[in-house]
Amino acid sequence: MTKSFQEVLKDRRSIRKFEGKPVKDEDLEQIIEAARLAPSGTNRQPWRFVLLKTEAEKARVAGSIIQPFVLEAPAVFICCLDKKAYTKGMVEKRMDELVQSNVISEEAAGYISQFKMPDKPEDVKIPPDAYIDLGIAVQQMALMAEALGLGSCWVRLINPGQIHEQLNLPDELKVVAVLPVGYPAQSPPPRPRLERDEIVVQL
Ligand SMILES: Cc1cc2nc3c(=O)[nH]c(=O)nc-3n(C[C@H](O)[C@H](O)[C@H](O)COP(=O)(O)O)c2cc1C
Repeated sequence: MTKSFQEVLKDRRSIRKFEGKPVKDEDLEQIIEAARLAPSGTNRQPWRFVLLKTEAEKARVAGSIIQPFVLEAPAVFICCLDKKAYTKGMVEKRMDELVQSNVISEEAAGYISQFKMPDKPEDVKIPPDAYIDLGIAVQQMALMAEALGLGSCWVRLINPGQIHEQLNLPDELKVVAVLPVGYPAQSPPPRPRLERDEIVVQL
């Protein structure tokens, strides 16, 4: 039975125990597609993902992931930011696309262009917007997993530098989070949430 969007939001939990059953490749593709469709500042799409599926692939990051449940999941996404997305050439390319399709004006593009942007990825200092963009993409993946009857868990309790080294990733990638995905072997109750009036600030 297909879940409504409201049900997907309400039912999603962080899953920390997975069945051994592998996730279908077409489901993993749908999860990647959910990230691909995410919105991002100036459409920069800075997210990149490494998918670990085999025991040998997962063994490469052993010791860098503090919680053992992560590598017990049949699929593990290593979620990264790409510094190339913030080089002058790439930002201008994305802005041109937006100007061409009348999404932003020449003036708005000019405003963005006045900020100093490095030519080379090694000179890029990753801006805070990048983490917002990656966060949106990863959460879209988590919601898609839920919609497909799968479970996932955001994980930041990792050693990103060591993962980068163990996977021999290119210099321009920065590891930010990990998202294990699999069939849930637990159904946790909802975690506490603040009340509506605690999150809406009255003027
Ligand atoms: C950015 C982020 C980082 C997180 N890092 C971890 C983590 O390293 N390990 C973990 O077990 N859970 C982690 N979580 C899951 C949270 O603990 C969880 O979302 C929160 O307790 C609410 O529970 P729920 O997701 O089941 O609603 C993280 C969640 C987010 C959004």
